[in-house]
Amino acid sequence: MTEYHIPVLELVLTMANAVDLVSPAVGGHHKRVTYISSQLARELKLPPRDTFDLVVAAALHDIGAFSVKERVETLEFEIKNPHAHAEMGFLFLKRFQPFLRLADIVRFHHVPWDDGRGTIFNGHVVPPSSHILHLADRIDVASLGGDIGIPNPSGVLDRINRESGRTFNPEAVDAFGAFAEKEYVWLDLGSSNLDRILSDTLSEQLLVLDDEGMLSFAQLLAHLVDFRSRYTSTHTAGVAETARFLAEHVGMDWSHCQRVRLAGYLHDLGKLAVGREILDKEGSLEEREYGLLKAHPYFTRRILETIRDFSDIAVWASAHHERPDGNGYPFHEKCLPIEAKIIAVADVFTAITEDRPYRPAMNLDEAAETLRRMAAKNLLDHTLVKLALTHRRELDDARRAAQAEASDQYAAIMAMAV
Ligand SMILES: [Fe+2]
Ligand SMILES: [Fe+2]
Ligand SMILES: [Fe+2]
Repeated sequence: MTEYHIPVLELVLTMANAVDLVSPAVGGHHKRVTYISSQLARELKLPPRDTFDLVVAAALHDIGAFSVKERVETLEFEIKNPHAHAEMGFLFLKRFQPFLRLADIVRFHHVPWDDGRGTIFNGHVVPPSSHILHLADRIDVASLGGDIGIPNPSGVLDRINRESGRTFNPEAVDAFGAFAEKEYVWLDLGSSNLDRILSDTLSEQLLVLDDEGMLSFAQLLAHLVDFRSRYTSTHTAGVAETARFLAEHVGMDWSHCQRVRLAGYLHDLGKLAVGREILDKEGSLEEREYGLLKAHPYFTRRILETIRDFSDIAVWASAHHERPDGNGYPFHEKCLPIEAKIIAVADVFTAITEDRPYRPAMNLDEAAETLRRMAAKNLLDHTLVKLALTHRRELDDARRAAQAEASDQYAAIMAMAV
């Protein structure tokens, strides 16, 4: 059995940086809300476990807002429909058992205090940390556009104070008042070193996962990426199964196959930086959109390399758009490990057998022909393509079964969404 050690905070903060790239308008929001939450937790003397759950929830709080439009709308001080993205975030996060507590915090992060009535919402108990996160989120939104380094930018303290009791928990508002006058807090918030400041001031916790736990965590991350668009809703499951199948047929042992499978699940993680508008676009992409889309394997690598046990998986997962001739992207690496070549073949095979907004899916014969042509042009590894073609029916059945399962999970989550 393998043991994986996940530095949760570092991982989610790197994910948060990627998620905030969807639009310059939301740049750095998750990171700043994490910092403000940690300051509130300190003033309120929250126990370490509660502080940890709060700051991880803060780093992920808007993860359920998939489109740029939805993300930008959450930055209005008065949001029109605030609970849809919060509920969506909850539906994802609760599927991973160690994230159950923070899933609840995310779920209710826009519930108003309402003179104490906000401790219950729609018959559910609202965790006290949801109200702290709500305040932290609104402090960042209210201070947007203020001068960097000036304490209390845009009169945020007055604005928040006016809402004390009605929108925000008064105890949390008092905690804000206690640190709002400290210049360093605002300087930290405007600092380009905020990542380092956060990792220096917050205590990390290593989450230890066995093979099964790791798989369920990888599936959570994969769903966060895939379920952003119906076109990609089963993509990762198909890539992971195709990659596992090829690894097995190359002769790798069980645990090696599992690691290749994990790389398959995680290969498009960097698409967290890509909004639904780009994934669903029918016409050709503009230069900025195409640049952002092509950057996704870069972010996949940067996110995954935060996990020390993943130094190999980070490379395998993020090299799926590299080509043996060095003309791939974004690293232009020529000497690729076999596991990376497997993910590349699995990615192409799965993608071309799926519908996209700009073209329909290929049937198995067309897909086989495409793989053959790509191998002939040295765009994919010849030996692996040959192997895939030899076992094409069996491989296609395995891929289809994995994608059918993912499709059911997608439908279940969408049916529960508000
Ligand atoms: Fe939100
Ligand atoms: Fe990709
Ligand atoms: Fe992919």
